[in-house]
Amino acid sequence: MSKLEPFAESIFVTRPVLPKIEEVTEKLKDIWSIKWLTNNGPQHYMLERELEKYLKVPYLSLFNNGTIALIVACQSLRLQGDVITTPFTFAATPHVLSWNNINPIFCDIDEETMNIDAEKIESMITPRTSAILAVHVFGTPCDVKKIQQVADAYGLKVIYDAAHAFGVEIGDEGIGTFGDISMFSFHATKLYHTVEGGALVHGDKNLKQRIDLLKNFGIKNEDEVVMSGINGKLDEVRAAIGRIMLNYVEEEREKRRKLHEVYNEELGDVAGIKLMPKCGENVKLNYQYYVIRVDEKIFGKSRDYVYDELKKYNVHTRKYFHPLCSEFTCYRQLNSASVENLPVANVVGKQVLSLPMYGDLAADDVRKICRIIKEF
Ligand SMILES: Cc1ncc(COP(=O)(O)O)c(C=O)c1O
Repeated sequence: MSKLEPFAESIFVTRPVLPKIEEVTEKLKDIWSIKWLTNNGPQHYMLERELEKYLKVPYLSLFNNGTIALIVACQSLRLQGDVITTPFTFAATPHVLSWNNINPIFCDIDEETMNIDAEKIESMITPRTSAILAVHVFGTPCDVKKIQQVADAYGLKVIYDAAHAFGVEIGDEGIGTFGDISMFSFHATKLYHTVEGGALVHGDKNLKQRIDLLKNFGIKNEDEVVMSGINGKLDEVRAAIGRIMLNYVEEEREKRRKLHEVYNEELGDVAGIKLMPKCGENVKLNYQYYVIRVDEKIFGKSRDYVYDELKKYNVHTRKYFHPLCSEFTCYRQLNSASVENLPVANVVGKQVLSLPMYGDLAADDVRKICRIIKEF
């Protein structure tokens, strides 16, 4: 161990943004007064409209979490057969495909952005392919132009898992305007949250009707159930918290942006540590995560060593995303899950480390974390 002392209290990889409790109590009083707790209440309605505006998308449907939202997205587009996706993502992404009886087909990732490699998608398409399910990993936008070109050429649908990309924009366009449908997760660990929650966004009024039926058991009215739906509803309490949280998101984004700068300054010239990709002037990022890649050959120590050692200093990082989805027992037998098919993902999966990132983290603590890493 070096001369630096461990942190007295644990530093976690993230901490939820919490609104003032009085603000929540006020909103709860409104809900209590009308005794409308769920099923399309006023908080739900207002949050949908507020989020459509904030995210700059034509239509938005709220959900009780992002995973159910993504399952419904596949249903709403009637996807079947095979869907091309990335192995470098959270478990939910391929799982929603298998819950829809769709085969995930893993495509390798781009070395720089860690998103699906748009140049390789075409070579994975077969007559069974119905869609591309891409993920804006760590909030870095996918190559949306190229993905759409390939999809158009082969008549495929495009769904974006934008769980990490709340508030990200390309030019002046909300990230949710690309593809056929995008999903946002409002889980407590996200930049913006409703404790648990999520949303689907898209540009098609008819699709909104279908999605809203699917998330409410397919119930059209008291006399008609028109499709086999599920319970994907967000309740009034969480919708109300979501409305409050919208007032916190810009301040939180700015605090994280500043912490990103500190990390970049401290780690920018460390040989063997690769920082997050630069996205160019026209991309507005959300700074939700701070992720490095540790190249053992150059840095001299492995990612796992850095992870284990930081723990001894009371710094809790995450090997996010490790293992790759293609390594899960439920997918590793797939042809597309082989290491030969996914050379880049298999390297990145062993290098990536998510460092502490949340607005209340002190800049001095970030500097100390970086000093500890540099001493390795
Ligand atoms: C990339 C990705 N997709 C999907 C999900 C699932 O979202 P939820 O937790 O809201 O179900 C997450 C959750 O963290 C995620 O990171």
